[in-house]
Amino acid sequence: MRMYDLITKKKHGEALTNEEIKFMVEGYVKGEIPDYQMSSMLMAIWFKGMNDEEITELTMNMAKSGDMIDLSAIEGLKVDKHSTGGVGDKTTLVVSPIVAACGGKVAKMSGRGLGHTGGTVDKLEAIPGYRTTLDRKEFFDTVNKCGMSLIGQSGNLAPADKKLYALRDVTATVDSIPLIASSIMSKKLAAGSDCILLDVKTGSGAFMKTLDDSIKLAQTMVAIGEGAGRRTMALITDMDTPLGYGIGNSLEVMESMDVLKGKGPKDLTEVCLQLAANMLYLIGVHDDLDECRKAAEKVIEDGSAFEAFCTMVREQGGDDSVLRDYTKFAQAPYTQEVLADKDGFVTRMNAEEVGVTSVVLGAGRETKESDIDFSAGLVIHKKPGDEVKKGESLVTLYTSKKEALAEAERMYREAVIIGSEKPAVEPLVYARVEKDKVEKY
Ligand code: URA
Repeated sequence: MRMYDLITKKKHGEALTNEEIKFMVEGYVKGEIPDYQMSSMLMAIWFKGMNDEEITELTMNMAKSGDMIDLSAIEGLKVDKHSTGGVGDKTTLVVSPIVAACGGKVAKMSGRGLGHTGGTVDKLEAIPGYRTTLDRKEFFDTVNKCGMSLIGQSGNLAPADKKLYALRDVTATVDSIPLIASSIMSKKLAAGSDCILLDVKTGSGAFMKTLDDSIKLAQTMVAIGEGAGRRTMALITDMDTPLGYGIGNSLEVMESMDVLKGKGPKDLTEVCLQLAANMLYLIGVHDDLDECRKAAEKVIEDGSAFEAFCTMVREQGGDDSVLRDYTKFAQAPYTQEVLADKDGFVTRMNAEEVGVTSVVLGAGRETKESDIDFSAGLVIHKKPGDEVKKGESLVTLYTSKKEALAEAERMYREAVIIGSEKPAVEPLVYARVEKDKVEKY
């Protein structure tokens, strides 16, 4: 078999056979297929797509390229959650302790920030002392003891995805349904949970910009998960506007803790409650989704979800006192307000540009090697629909790089549009996708 022939086949829109996909994934992981040929294949897939059988085969081969984690040492039903990536998306920090406090088990391996989107592992590392690398036994023991453990992806989890993702990132081939679906589902299947809830983001800050594409991506991933014997569902949630008000690593931990303390922003709280309710539904805590939601609300009200998070943080070496007293987080030495230059309403906010602004301030990586500034980021004061008066603050910028402030202010101003008409309120959750069923809200 020759990679050249497979590229030619895909270029003409033909389906690859199971043997061909296996040859391609194995050859690429072993280094026998060079990046330039795989880049060409990725671009051919981007243009010509893949049928369901090809996507499933690609996913399974990517999943099996490394460890397939056996979570049977953890008692009870394990539920995982995965977001397709967004700005201000800190829901894992909120939903995992909610599920744990309700009796579910969350053994979750998360990723780092990617481009304009943040990553859970970077956020967790903003908590002093918190260890995101545990050996397998410590990981299982922590889940058994705390109901949850949040760590980084182990070195050998779906290495095919690691290699392919890095290549897609630099060859403009990230935003392709077969490639995103196989990337995400290969990691989820390898990570071993019985149930998987997918949070598929839609809008300007998401990889999928339209609702139709987001639903198609969700259906593709749900079909792969169900086909592999895992209970899988998806919610399509808004990422046209950043989620919550804080963007940046410690700022996002603080906002997540506010939600767990019952005083978080409405949008973030609502999305988290819906995600948590669906996770509880998947593992059968209640047969009825409304009952699952009530259970999620209750563990926020009685403080047990917050305590579950603190317990896990201590167990993993972190200082949970910062979660009670936010002044103990490293503080950014420079702050700046961006003031409105006219009266009106915030009519639009480009989530991707807001995400890039936070990267410029130091909250994300400019290059793979860059260090993260945990204190950097921004706190939005006015979101779409809010009235604003000239001279009022739209956002506070936080950074350790004074020289970044001017550029960040310029970018933020470009990301936010102030108009004279109050815009219509967009939904936070657009749809719920189950096997063979799409429910639009
Ligand atoms: N997240 C992933 O893990 N993979 C993708 O391709 C996109 C988002």
